[in-house]
Amino acid sequence: MMHNTIHGTHKRFYMKPNRYFLNSTAQYHISHLTSLGWELTVCNALAVETSPCRKALKTNTSFGVHLCRFLEKHMNLHDVKNVLEVGGGLGYLMRDILNQYPRIQATMLDISPFLLQKQIETLSDRRVIFREMDFLSMEPDELRVFDFVILNENLGDFPTLVCASDAKTVDLPVLPPDALIDQAEEYRRRYGLTFGPSENINIGALDAVEKLCRANVPYIYLSEHSCEALPPEELSGVLKIIPSGNPERISLKGHAEYTINFSHLQTLAEKNGYRAERGLFADFLIPDFNDTVRAALRTASPVSDEQEIIQQFIYDLYKYEYLLLIKR
Ligand SMILES: C[S@@+](CC[C@H](N)C(=O)[O-])C[C@H]1O[C@@H](n2cnc3c(N)ncnc32)[C@H](O)[C@@H]1O
Repeated sequence: MMHNTIHGTHKRFYMKPNRYFLNSTAQYHISHLTSLGWELTVCNALAVETSPCRKALKTNTSFGVHLCRFLEKHMNLHDVKNVLEVGGGLGYLMRDILNQYPRIQATMLDISPFLLQKQIETLSDRRVIFREMDFLSMEPDELRVFDFVILNENLGDFPTLVCASDAKTVDLPVLPPDALIDQAEEYRRRYGLTFGPSENINIGALDAVEKLCRANVPYIYLSEHSCEALPPEELSGVLKIIPSGNPERISLKGHAEYTINFSHLQTLAEKNGYRAERGLFADFLIPDFNDTVRAALRTASPVSDEQEIIQQFIYDLYKYEYLLLIKR
């Protein structure tokens, strides 16, 4: 199949339309999601003061407090006037931010009516704007008013082009529209991204980051499960995290998401004039390897719910990456 590009007409041999299936979580989030309980995010795991996860950290506090302490090293949060949080879940992160910086004007945007309602309840005593919509349909111009945009633990929900070889084993009947294939091809050409022959492509995450960069948002914070995360050598015996470099499927109740190739997002942002700070959650959620944590990590079969939660939590600290993008 031939198509036109800015460089003329050429063959689309890498991105044959039938090589990919589309993973989308949109319908699930719009029509079927009625609880986030089973999908314990790191943010929610640290929300309750008595959470066993808090005791697995050197400092016993919420996710939002940890995140703000980290962000303050790179930006002046007192200068932030308008913040947008996309996919804010239960609203706990924004509650923490507004507790510390009450003068910030916050906007919460979510595709899920159920979760947006939860955010309205959590932030009921604040002056917050709520928008129910798919972030990927937002016009870049609408983003220009924000000086800080947050996407915490949700990029993996955005559409992914799943390689046919990977899709065989799973139920992914949806073929992507040609426009998405063209878009991936465009990213490859525009930013010099190399997608391997059997690589799944985080097309929605790339689209989201490009949109934010083109709107010149001064500060952008992103985090998600990464397919490139590499825990320190001393933990390699207890944490089975192997960076495959290829977005991996995570099956969840009613939907599946994909881990993120952060290098592609970083390259795209840098080519749009951003400086990137990148690392693991464990950089700012510093684990305390006390007896309880060490016992949880050593055991192959957890003896209690608490042990299982701690195991998963420590795994997440080294599997999640963050990317803080700062406009040069
Ligand atoms: C795994 S939850 C993370 C929630 C929260 N940020 C946290 O860390 O606890 C994913 C969130 O992203 C939202 N979301 C998923 N796809 C979205 C989209 N295309 N546009 C806007 N929000 C989306 C979901 O409804 C949900 O609030």
